Amino acid sequence: MTRNDKPTLAVVGATGAVGTVMLELLSNRQDVWGEIRLIASARSAGKKLVVRGEEVEVVALSEECFEGVDVAMFDVPDEVSAHWAPIAAAKGAVAVDNSGAFRMDPEVPLVVPEVNAAAARVRPRGIIANPNCTTLTMVVALGALHAELGLKELVVASYQAASGAGQPGVDALREQLAKVAGSSTLGTQPGDVRRAVGDFGPFPAPLALNVVPWAGSLKDGGWSSEELKVRNESRKILSLPNLKVSATCVRVPVITTHSLSVHAVFENEVSVQRAHEILAGAPGVVLCDDPENGEFPTPADVVGTDPTWVGRVRQSLDDPFALDMFMCGDNLRKGAALNTAQIAEVVAVELGERA
Ligand SMILES: NC(=O)c1ccc[n+]([C@@H]2O[C@H](COP(=O)([O-])OP(=O)(O)OC[C@H]3O[C@@H](n4cnc5c(N)ncnc54)[C@H](OP(=O)(O)O)[C@@H]3O)[C@@H](O)[C@H]2O)c1
Repeated sequence: MTRNDKPTLAVVGATGAVGTVMLELLSNRQDVWGEIRLIASARSAGKKLVVRGEEVEVVALSEECFEGVDVAMFDVPDEVSAHWAPIAAAKGAVAVDNSGAFRMDPEVPLVVPEVNAAAARVRPRGIIANPNCTTLTMVVALGALHAELGLKELVVASYQAASGAGQPGVDALREQLAKVAGSSTLGTQPGDVRRAVGDFGPFPAPLALNVVPWAGSLKDGGWSSEELKVRNESRKILSLPNLKVSATCVRVPVITTHSLSVHAVFENEVSVQRAHEILAGAPGVVLCDDPENGEFPTPADVVGTDPTWVGRVRQSLDDPFALDMFMCGDNLRKGAALNTAQIAEVVAVELGERA
């Protein structure tokens, strides 16, 4: 099969934090694509980026960009996706959207291929949504456990990386770290880190030498938008509309890779041994659970890898139907670009079957 026989892909947002990882993935995964078009804002038009070992010029987003495109990935802010994904779909492309614009639209499937790949085939608006990175860090492992044990309730706390706030988040954390590095006194007096850092970037408090219990915008009842996404998106992906979910989302001074502490309650009693067997056999999951020998997932080890890593699996001391676990996943790979690439590949296979 030549490239001319394969579907044409558009990557909208190719210059961003997620887009950059997407180009790397497209260069290293099985090549199912013919032409790959790189699209960003007018600010980036003319810039050359490398994909599949070749330089490709970035073009400014316009209606013409989608002529002849079979699949269009959107790695752009919500408002840009909200406007342009329907335009791409109207031009005949299947839009795979990484933003939050369509995730809870009942006519848009929210897809994690390891959990609900078949949902990608039913897309009345021609759009498929990719879940948010925090939900994606846990849902592959939870999907495998749910299939056997029946999930009833989740209580989770996240430890989210700076790159979850895009390239500006990474830049801000690196600048803040440079400002506090070398001091032997910062972090010992109220407000000293705040004053030393000065500019918090996209975060509501300093992230260097700190943790920040806030991600997203304020919603009813004091919940953050990120916490509601974890609840609503988990319910939709797992087809459990009444799943009880309580999340606290926290930003930590990690560049990339989100972590989650998960308390999961099941319909059935569960042993650590059975949970280990399920997790060890689950596609897209790596079990890393031997604390005696220092084996548990940490962001520093997990960053740059594809799977969800699970460790610290314990049966709840007070409930034999519940497990406590720690999970890590690269928020720019499975949490964003990889899951989008996997969905796009599912669509490419479907288009190939139809041709
Ligand atoms: N970071 C994560 O962990 C993560 C995880 C899951 C989902 N997401 C979602 O993925 C999307 C991209 O996030 P990111 O972290 O990659 O953001 P980012 O680093 O800020 O990149 C944004 C991208 O969007 C492009 N863009 C912005 N405004 C545009 C416009 N008006 N027209 C065309 N292109 C425009 C930018 O192009 P220029 O370079 O030309 O400005 C850039 O390529 C967001 O919706 C985000 O919520 C992010």
